[in-house]
Amino acid sequence: MKLEFLENGPIRVEGARFRVRVGEKEEVLEKPRVFLCRCGGSSRKPFCDGTHKAIGFQAPAGVLEVEGD
Ligand code: FES
Repeated sequence: MKLEFLENGPIRVEGARFRVRVGEKEEVLEKPRVFLCRCGGSSRKPFCDGTHKAIGFQAPAGVLEVEGD
């Protein structure tokens, strides 16, 4: 699995099927990718809603690769 930290933005996760649990709620998403908030400002956590642009979030780009999955 690879997580991409977009410059001044969210974390992009590539996949095909995601199982998301937030509190008691669980859902399965059939999508090629999801964008996770890392600025803390999204009202749709754990997903990015674009608020990072409005609040001027700044962070460098990067990559995290999970080995052995
Ligand atoms: S990273 Fe986009 S709303 Fe937080």
